[in-house]
Amino acid sequence: MNIRKITDGIYYVGVNDRVTDRFEGLWPLPQGVSYNSYIVKGKTKTALIDTVEIGSVRNFIRSIYSEIGDSRIDYLVINHMEPDHSGGIPMVLSHFPELKIVGNKQTIAMIKGFFHIEDESRFMEIADGATIDLGEKSLRFIMTPMVHWPETMMTYVEENGVIFSGDAFGCFGALNGGIVDDEMNVEWYWDEMYRYYSNIVGKYGRFVQKALEKTSTLKIDFLCPTHGPVWHEHINRVVDIYNRLSKYESEPGVTIIFGSMYGNTGEIAEAIARQLAAKGVKNIKIHNAAKENLSSMISDAFRYEGLIVGGPTYSMHLFPPVEEFMIAMETRELKNKVVATFGSFTWASAAAKTLKEYLQKMKIEPVASLEMKHAASSDTYAEIEKLAEKLVEALKLK
Ligand code: FEO
Repeated sequence: MNIRKITDGIYYVGVNDRVTDRFEGLWPLPQGVSYNSYIVKGKTKTALIDTVEIGSVRNFIRSIYSEIGDSRIDYLVINHMEPDHSGGIPMVLSHFPELKIVGNKQTIAMIKGFFHIEDESRFMEIADGATIDLGEKSLRFIMTPMVHWPETMMTYVEENGVIFSGDAFGCFGALNGGIVDDEMNVEWYWDEMYRYYSNIVGKYGRFVQKALEKTSTLKIDFLCPTHGPVWHEHINRVVDIYNRLSKYESEPGVTIIFGSMYGNTGEIAEAIARQLAAKGVKNIKIHNAAKENLSSMISDAFRYEGLIVGGPTYSMHLFPPVEEFMIAMETRELKNKVVATFGSFTWASAAAKTLKEYLQKMKIEPVASLEMKHAASSDTYAEIEKLAEKLVEALKLK
């Protein structure tokens, strides 16, 4: 059981999931993930903030009882309806039949759709800025649509400077004993935060920016997301990471994504990387799209300023694993990057053209592109050197 007092009257009752292999059925969870839920106890009323994924409900209910004993839950606040947080709603309702479900109009429509709860008396609909008094403690609701679904909102407890932020400021990685950041070594969570943001929230950068603006004047001592540590000591760093990533701002470095059937196209990736290193680029990440998970490729593409993508022509298409990466970039509306491409073919060219088309859809003009027929020649290596030169020049101007 994970129970931890965060501050006066506010308790963590979330759970760790070390069993699920892939988040949303897609994204690997090598270090697990936490589904965070919180109890807010006022003098007169008690609220539960969010639930957990359905597979972890038994431990969750146990934690709630352990914290509240014989008293009751008056409100269940639903900040976000994705099933990793809403899966526990039916079980919570069956244990606390008298409580009111608090959510906005869209939340309530989703609860009805997902769980077929039609009894209107179960719901308390709230709007942006509404408050609920718990007795010497209050909940204020802040609508933050599309961070990460349209119904998402945050809940703020002004008296304690605590904000329950939903997916915003979350990261992959289960909690290993520590719950608040001041009782753990947080170092390995930063990479998982990049991966979580880019994989899950990455498409919604402009909405994250709006949410950051809307909450910028709040006094926040504890930042309580739905995944990962509760932030207290490192709030500034966490907000900075989300701010930069949602503006597509990056760190110095280059990500190279390639596909290759027999090594000829892969050789271009290796040669480009060597040229970049010789020209002073220190952070270079190379990913073989056919072998590695899309998750880490997306994460590095968000993280670094430069992106080079290349692959062979395959049955008159771009090599499928590379195309999957380009679709992921288009979906996430990637921008603000210095990009170059390389394609190859044996008898009819398609890869180079398809790469260019994806970039056009994203309104990205590559700083350099090259195309190779068959295998690398001395001309190819000369082109590789030029491509690396142009990319490094463009990175310097950025
Ligand atoms: Fe953690 Fe969008 O759910």
